[in-house]
Parts: sequence; C-alpha cells; structure tokens
Amino acid sequence: MIFLLSADCPDARAAWLRMELNRANYAYYVLDQPEIPDSEYDRLFKELKQIEADYPGLITLNSPTQRVGGEVAEGFSPVVHDVPMLSLNHGFKDSDVEAFDKRISDTLRNSNVEYACELKFDGLAVSLRYEDGRFVQASTRGQGTTGEDITANVKTIRSLPLMLSGDAVPKIIDVRGEVLMFRLDFDKLNKRQREAGQRGFANPRNAAAGSLRQLDSRITAQRPLSFFAYGIGLFDGVPIPDTHSALLDWYASMGLPVNQERAVVRGAAGLLAFLRSVGTRRSALPYDIDGVVYKVNRHDEQARLGFMSRAPRFALAHKFPAEEALTRLLAIEVQVGRTGAITPVARFEPVFVGGATLTNATLHNADEVRRKNILIGDTVIVRRAGDVIPEVVSAIKECRPADAYHFTMPTHCPICRSKIERLPDEAIARCTGGLICSAQRKQALWHFAQRRALDISGLGKKIIDQLVDQKLIHTPAHLFNLVSTTVVQLDRFSNKSAQNLIDSLKRARYTTLSRFIYALGIRHVGESISRDLAQHFGSLDALMSASEEALLEVKKVGPVVMEAIRYFFSEPRNRVVIQQLRAAGVQWPEGPPLPRKPAGSLIGITVVLTGTLPTISRKTAKERLEAAGAKVAKTVSKKTNYVVAGVNAGSKLIQAERLGIDIVDEKEMHRLLENE
Ligand code: IVH
Repeated sequence: MIFLLSADCPDARAAWLRMELNRANYAYYVLDQPEIPDSEYDRLFKELKQIEADYPGLITLNSPTQRVGGEVAEGFSPVVHDVPMLSLNHGFKDSDVEAFDKRISDTLRNSNVEYACELKFDGLAVSLRYEDGRFVQASTRGQGTTGEDITANVKTIRSLPLMLSGDAVPKIIDVRGEVLMFRLDFDKLNKRQREAGQRGFANPRNAAAGSLRQLDSRITAQRPLSFFAYGIGLFDGVPIPDTHSALLDWYASMGLPVNQERAVVRGAAGLLAFLRSVGTRRSALPYDIDGVVYKVNRHDEQARLGFMSRAPRFALAHKFPAEEALTRLLAIEVQVGRTGAITPVARFEPVFVGGATLTNATLHNADEVRRKNILIGDTVIVRRAGDVIPEVVSAIKECRPADAYHFTMPTHCPICRSKIERLPDEAIARCTGGLICSAQRKQALWHFAQRRALDISGLGKKIIDQLVDQKLIHTPAHLFNLVSTTVVQLDRFSNKSAQNLIDSLKRARYTTLSRFIYALGIRHVGESISRDLAQHFGSLDALMSASEEALLEVKKVGPVVMEAIRYFFSEPRNRVVIQQLRAAGVQWPEGPPLPRKPAGSLIGITVVLTGTLPTISRKTAKERLEAAGAKVAKTVSKKTNYVVAGVNAGSKLIQAERLGIDIVDEKEMHRLLENE
C-alpha cells in the first residue's frame, strides 16, 4: 500500500512525514538516541517541504518545517501572564536549608516533608501555552506579571513538541521551564560566530538570552537552544497530578523535555544529600547550573504554604557559592557617574571566573577600598556568580610586593577638572561640575534615551560618546535638533541607520509624564516613584511647583527624595533644559491630579481572607480591614485586589493563583493597613 502514501495522496504522505520527522526530532533532541541518519532526516524534510510548497493548505502548526523561523518581527508584544511567573527565595548555607525545612514542617505540622529536588538551570524562564495539545504561544518572564511574546523564536527549539502526545491532553496548559544552551553547542556557536567575524558570547546564558531576543527568528533557528520543563501556570480541562514529581513525569509522557537529574527526598538531610551529589557531578553536566531547587512535592501542601509577595514559600533555590579566582590589581581608576558620584574601579589582569572574563570591578567608594585594605600591585581574589556583579573580595597579604601602594581619591575630576567634594555625612565623593562635566552629561543623555525613559532606539553609549566629545550636543534637548546629515558623519552610521535614529527621535517626542519625569534623572527618583509622582500631580507644572508638604504626600516620597526633587527643579539650568525639551516638541498627555484618598483608608480595595492567620482571628482581620475602608468579600473574583492567605488556605488560594491576584500573608496585610 506504499503508493497510497506517495504523490497521489499528498495529505497522507505529509502527515506521515510530519510524524516521522517529529519522532526523529524527539529521539535526537530529547532522548539523545538518534533513530535515523542525518541524511535520511534531510531527505524526508526536503520532501515534506516540497509537498507543502505544492499544497500550502497542508501546512500544519506542528509541521517540523515551521521551526525554521519566518518573518522578521518589529518588536515583541507584551503578554500578560494569567498566573504570574514568580521568582525563588535563595539560600546559600546548610543552615538556610535546615531553616527552610523547619519552617515548612512547622507550618504543615509534618516532621517528614517530601520534597522534589531538581537543578537550577542557568538560562531564561519561559512560559509555553498549549491549547488542546497545540503549542500556541511562548513568552518571557519579564518582571513576573507581563512578559514578551517570543513564540516565533521558541518554535525553533527542536526538542520542544509543537503538539503534545497522549490521549489526556489538557484544554489549556502553561508549561513553565528554562531555555538554555548546552556547553558544547555554545562552543560550536561561538566558533561559528568568530569565523564569521562576529563577536562571541561570554557564556551560554548570554548566548541563550541573545538568541531568544532575535527579531529575526531565522537567526534563532540556527542557534542550538534547549528547554527543560519544571513548572505549571494556568491549566484547564484535566486534573493535574497530586505531586510535582508526578507532574514532571506526566510532562515527559506528553513529549516535553524534562531533566532527569531529579529526586524525591525527605527532610533537610535528604535535601542536603541531593545538593552534595549534584555538586560532585556539576562540572560533568553538559550545561551550566547555578544551584539546585527544592520544592515541597505535594501540591496540596504547596497550596497550604502559599506565597510571599514575589516567591512561593514552598520552594528554595540553593545556590552554589560564587566562583573565585586570583589576579593582579593593576590600577584603581575613578569613574564619574550620572549624578557626579566618583567610584573607584579596580582594573586587573584579565581573569576567567564564573563564566566570564573579567578585567575590572567596582570598589564602590574610598572607604570600601580602605576597609578591604587593597593596594595597587596586590594579588587579589575576585568573585563572580552568574547574574551577580563582580567584586574584589580581598588582597593576599603574603603576596604583597614591596612597591604596592595605596589608592588616593583625586581632588579634581579626571574628566572636567572640577573640584571633587565629599560632604561630611556622605560616603560618596562627587564631581561638582554638574552638566559641565562631559562624563555626567554622557550618562544623563544615556539615562534619558533608555528604553524605560524616552526609549530612543539606536542611541547607544558609543554614539552618545561621539555626540558629546564632538560637542554636537550638550543637553538632552539638543538631541531633537539633530539632522541625519550630522549623524551620518559619526562612526558606525550609514544613511539608513542615521535616518532610523532621526525617526526614533521623532517618535520619542510623544511620551508619558511618568517616563519624562524618570528621564530627567533626578537623584533617587526611579521608575516607580516617577509613576507615583505623575499620577499624583497629573502635570509637570504641578510637580515643578509642588511644596514640600505636597511632595511628602506622595506614597514613596520621604524627606530625602523630596529634597532631591526640590533641588532639581530649583536649579535654573534644569528648568532651561525642560523648557528647551518642550520647545522641541516633547509632549505627553496631562490630566488632573488623582483625587486624594482620606488618610488611613483602603477604600475601593476588595480583600478575601482564607486560611488561619498566625496572630489574629479572621474576625479581627475583617474588622480591621473594613475599618480602613476595604470591602471584605467571601469569594475570589477578578475584582479581588488581595487574598490574605493563612495556614490551610484551600480553593480560594488556588482560584487567586489562577486569576493572578496578589496573595499576601498576615504580615503583609498589616503593612497594607499601615501604608494606606
Ligand atoms: S521554579 C514558582 N525551577 O530560577 C517558582 N526555577 O529565581 C518558579 N530556575 O526565573 C521557578 N531552574 O529562571 C524553578 N528547576 C527550576 C529552575 C528555576 C532555574 C530559574 C528560573 C526563575 C528563577 C527563579
């Protein structure tokens, strides 16, 4: 009957080819047991491509040909996670693990809790949505509640099934896990990059991150990415297994890649034994890990333990100690920050540590250099762990050469020669040059152009350096007078990229008040305070003329922030720059200030209480919340703002998780009552 599957019946042949190729992919990428030779795979693949070219109606979502990447995207659209992607609490020492186990056994009143142990992969967390078994969307974690849509890129990961197998596939499931790059794949990729005259990546994590952030998924398709599933978000349609370990087994049965370096253990002793056993095998693993993760195995017990604001109480990431290496301190130079802060920076002989080659590390301030007793010429220990900034730990006194010498803070700014001052009660010395200082100007401009500020794409650090060094611009307002004929004369610019920059400047003119406030770079005023200020005052003029008392009414503004804001707007040159920016057409919608809430009120907030609270009764909690103006509801719905969860919280907690509602404990509830 072979002829039935040939050209006379292209749909059946295509279905067969899809099945064979998907099976070969699974055997190769997930089971690591290749079933057919590469040449055979290529032949079948080519044949399927041909059928799909002749009959485009036969292309299906799960066709392996759909993994090669397609259209170039303009950007990544936001994806709101139905269930937020949380982070993990961290521990470093054995005693952290013992305390974790004690807290859990006390809360659960179970002295022999069962845990699922797994590896902490050093990659990027993603959420994959499958609907009726089909892969439909992938998103990054972002800040936890909203990520970015990276579907086209994730689809290129060969080990990921585009279709879940088995009979009982859920209607909807968000599979959570980590995208990473194996070390061998990373080495090959870097070799290829360098041969093509491109820069290599510092480590597999950066390579994975860079690959997922490609706007052209055809490039991602050439990057050897892998995936391991370790969690769940929203689900619907089938009951999920009772335990985490069974959940992962179920995933594996549906064809999802699950890492096999995992174990179910009991008590702190079991957790530590897992850590030690992984520790001995760490360097032999084919991918980087930065620790292990312990999770309470039973899902009902997980629900009873609940969440803190950003991390579940039922899990702990046990991180390996940061890697350390020895090198020689060549110099201590100073760097000038955006607000003039002078930071000593250690320059040392290049050294490979924690997955990257380091040549410098900040020493924070002069006191720190003195406290650590580090001399120029010393042999020093430097430390770096994954995402942590590198640091100089200490000097090896025994190796100190006779000509080693102390660092002295310069009296004048190395960039603009203005005086460096250190106020008696401050740890930081500052250049007094303000915007006369080109280093401060450069950083102010960079801050202004950042994605989270005015979002001027195409205006990187190197370009700002040139614009300032060639005296083309002095203030952010001058950016808007740039013309493409000027820009094209700078290094790294073509006609097209110059025009792109001018276009993005045009777009950047239309912004929001909170972005604009943040972009100004007022000391201590970050994104979240900028948002509060914009909401509170509604217009820039109202903010600029706000009295001390009016500023202090804003939620996160205390005396220090208030002073900084007042000082910034009292400086005539800052007012001039703002004036110039407005004249250049920078604009944002303004509105009336928010109506002020009466002090001490939770009016408009709906809270649901569930479980037994540790120190007060449900009744007292309800009275206190109602006295503050909150509505205390019996059931969790989309309108609920907070769920206060105690011990033995049940279905309401699960419902809250599914709806992505903030879950707080009693302590956090007291804080809410105090703050509002
Ligand atoms: S579970 C609710 N399991 O660690 C807990 N995370 O600090 C959600 N990670 O962003 C995470 N390996 O990128 C979990 N086996 C593992 C993990 C893991 C690595 C990462 C993940 C997450 C971060 C949390």
